[in-house]
Amino acid sequence: MLNVALPKGRIGEKVYGMFEAAGLECPSIRENNRKLIFENEAVGVRYFWVKPSDVAIYVERGAADIGVAGKDILLEYEPDIYELLDLNIGKCRMAVAAREGFRDNAQKTLKVATKFTNIAQTYYTALGRDIDIIRLNGSIELAPILGLSDVIVDIVETGTTLRENHLQVMETIVPISARLIANKAAFKFKNDAIVSIVNKLSQTVEVSK
Ligand code: PRP
Repeated sequence: MLNVALPKGRIGEKVYGMFEAAGLECPSIRENNRKLIFENEAVGVRYFWVKPSDVAIYVERGAADIGVAGKDILLEYEPDIYELLDLNIGKCRMAVAAREGFRDNAQKTLKVATKFTNIAQTYYTALGRDIDIIRLNGSIELAPILGLSDVIVDIVETGTTLRENHLQVMETIVPISARLIANKAAFKFKNDAIVSIVNKLSQTVEVSK
């Protein structure tokens, strides 16, 4: 049985569609209910709906053999897993943004509000810039508007949230997309099943590019 952690939500449903097309169907998953685990014994697959930011934890600890996580989460938490495939969906970017017209003074410590403290710290350390990190859990865009921070490090997808709050991208740190990841031991012991799904999914990814 291959245990698969899917990120709950729109991306997860897209991902399930890709797995289904690759032969790992589990029709009961499409039933409209609050169940979190779905199994198709005939095909040898069990799916779990997991909070997107928790997928890597399930996979790292072996509760799931494989899963789909955003590159943002992988960069932020650096889980000890294998990253097998870029699924080319859920595309966005990690960026530095500030109020329109903001001028950075390189002599001053930069106040950075973010949920992604590791990504932000790594980025500014590489630039040799001193920063003061303010860790927030959401609505990060408020911070520079209220003077809580100079800039934010956050995910930008369409750019609408920034635009509607009079903020703008200063720098792109890294492009983000959904990645297929595997538990290291499972990759060894369930190698045939995992390699086969990677091969099938990569064909789907190629076609959709
Ligand atoms: C993310 C991110 C931005 C927004 C960007 O938030 O933090 O707020 O999406 O998308 P846009 O460029 O298309 O406007 P999300 O909705 O994931 O919720 P969060 O505030 O909990 O992070």
